[in-house]
Amino acid sequence: MVKEKILVTAALPYANGPIHLGHLSGAYIPADIYVRYQRLKGSNIIFISGSDEHGVPITITADKEGVKPQEIINRYHNQNKEAFEKLGVSFDNYSRTSLPMHHETGKEFFLKYYKMGILKEKKSLQFYDNKAKMFLPDRYVEGTCPNCGFEEARSDECENCGALYQPNELKNPKSKITGEEPVLKETSHWYFPLGKYQKRLENYVNEMNEKFGWKENVLQYCRSWFKDGLEDRAVTRDLDWGIKVPIDSADGKVLYVWFEAVLGYISSTKELSEKLGNVDLWKDYWLDEKTKYVAFIGKDNVVFHCIIFPSMLMAWNDGSEEKYVLPQNVPANEFLNFEGKKFSKSRNWGISVTDFLEIFPADPLRYTLAANLPETRDTDFYWKEFQLRNNSELADILGNFINRSITFVQKHFEGKVPAQGKMEIIDSEMLSLISEYPSKVAKLFEAYKIRDGVLEIMNLARAGNKYFNDSEPWKTIKSDKDKCGTTLYVCLQTIYTLAELMWPVVPFSSEKVFHILNAEKTEWENCSNNNLETGHSLNQPEIIFPKIEDEVIEKQMEKLNTTENKAENLPDDIVTIDDFLKIKLKVAEVIGAEKLEKSEKLLKLLVKLENEERQVIAGIAKSYKPEEIIGKKVIIVANLKPAKLMGYESKGMVLAVEDENGNLNVLSTSSIVKNGTRVK
Ligand code: 2FM
Ligand code: ZN
Repeated sequence: MVKEKILVTAALPYANGPIHLGHLSGAYIPADIYVRYQRLKGSNIIFISGSDEHGVPITITADKEGVKPQEIINRYHNQNKEAFEKLGVSFDNYSRTSLPMHHETGKEFFLKYYKMGILKEKKSLQFYDNKAKMFLPDRYVEGTCPNCGFEEARSDECENCGALYQPNELKNPKSKITGEEPVLKETSHWYFPLGKYQKRLENYVNEMNEKFGWKENVLQYCRSWFKDGLEDRAVTRDLDWGIKVPIDSADGKVLYVWFEAVLGYISSTKELSEKLGNVDLWKDYWLDEKTKYVAFIGKDNVVFHCIIFPSMLMAWNDGSEEKYVLPQNVPANEFLNFEGKKFSKSRNWGISVTDFLEIFPADPLRYTLAANLPETRDTDFYWKEFQLRNNSELADILGNFINRSITFVQKHFEGKVPAQGKMEIIDSEMLSLISEYPSKVAKLFEAYKIRDGVLEIMNLARAGNKYFNDSEPWKTIKSDKDKCGTTLYVCLQTIYTLAELMWPVVPFSSEKVFHILNAEKTEWENCSNNNLETGHSLNQPEIIFPKIEDEVIEKQMEKLNTTENKAENLPDDIVTIDDFLKIKLKVAEVIGAEKLEKSEKLLKLLVKLENEERQVIAGIAKSYKPEEIIGKKVIIVANLKPAKLMGYESKGMVLAVEDENGNLNVLSTSSIVKNGTRVK
């Protein structure tokens, strides 16, 4: 039989932070299960990934820490690579986009399009931060919406009222990096004509779906992109961290990170080829139309893998003898949340894979995530569920079935596989049940219903326990040893099948079971064919899935409660810089003040910010007469939710400190500071 040639890629995670459980559920666990299954099937398969090491966020992290981007990517590339290894994610190659091999590939693709004349050069005005000395991507500029006055509008669209506008229409633009007012500068970029490929892309998605069944959520995303209409996309950026645009007139520009990151799959395969001493090996996969290419990603990456990357490959293929294969399927998952909320680095919500594996072994995590994959909708990781999946499923069902059977055989059959003996209905039914499993699970895995496949495997272990109970070998050992031998013969064959089926899911534990069985894995299709011969010696049993105690889980949950707002070993009340920056403290000039009749404490102030005046009610009347406060430049919390005090609206809060006599002193600043200046 000709073996399928399969290329599997999993999204290249940014080397900008540690990967967390959400990343695993999105792409890496389903990909690894699929790949391991295919390996057992004997497919000719390679599994490719690596770190995505360019892009603005990496340069910002580096600036914040006062180090070079190289230091950031080295740190997280190494950490994430190690986490994947510990977790048993079995990449054939885990590369990095900072390698020369990748830079060359990125440049090669750009130049190809450039020479084919499909890239358009266009001039535009973009915000430039003079202090950070860089052009600012949209999400790093904030200002006041020209339409509704919303103060946190983006450079080209307002989240509050939905208005779209040109960057020069945004009022009071601020750089989110330095807080400075950015200037508009002309720049030119090269654009990939995505719109030109729309029809072909729609056909491609439809054809792949018809032939190979794409996931509904993925189709939905694609369709909504198509419906909005695809537009030209800039593939260059003004930045110095990344792949230099390989033409003379493009000084100070790099390739847009997404344009080159997807090519990282190709360069990672080239790196693998070099490592294996067969430099053309990558072509066998990428340039052969018989290759089945499957790209595992999370939902936030759909447009890049189902639209942008395929269009890039189409464009290359149009201009070359070498034809790249396009993804045959992109089984993107939805998101995993953590205890009911989104994972968040800044809020410290969640747990990194590295930290997780310091406390727990890999397999219970792999199993818990696999049994709850967000294949059709978002799901959650809960510590309690993790404990339950380990204790009540892995330990009590799978582990228990293995342990009780092996212990029994060690005790009553000298640790050797008993004879099959005379089969009764209950025995042949069990053997026939296990024989259905390889194809049943395979069907689910091939359809990317990884979760259902995993749950099925646990069902077989359940059936094994039931068979053991119903057969009552502890009784038949006394009344009918042959019959008892038959029971254990069937149990051992079931265990062998389980060990094989669970290898893709919990590989470390599966290896232990094979060790106990004193046997090797076989081809997937063959794994239910009574592979253990009568008389074959087994090894001593060991506990495969130790239970996780309540205290251990409770400790994690407590940690979560106290760490949401704190980094390790810091006091509970610590806030992050992001928390702090949410509070907008601004300089406000008091231009009017009057006492409120009904109150001894309150003054009604009129204050001036940059372009706006507002009323603030301040509890300072006992310490300040209205004329004493007028003219002062005070500090207010400018984005405090408006409130009514004694019936008067207050939009903000004046900051003050109390001295030892109980007098309030408002915080103020020198008169030369401009109104509206942010206090940081
Ligand atoms: O979302 C991410 O983490 C991206 N770095 C994924 C890139 S996948 C591919 F393009 F390399
Ligand atoms: Zn608006």
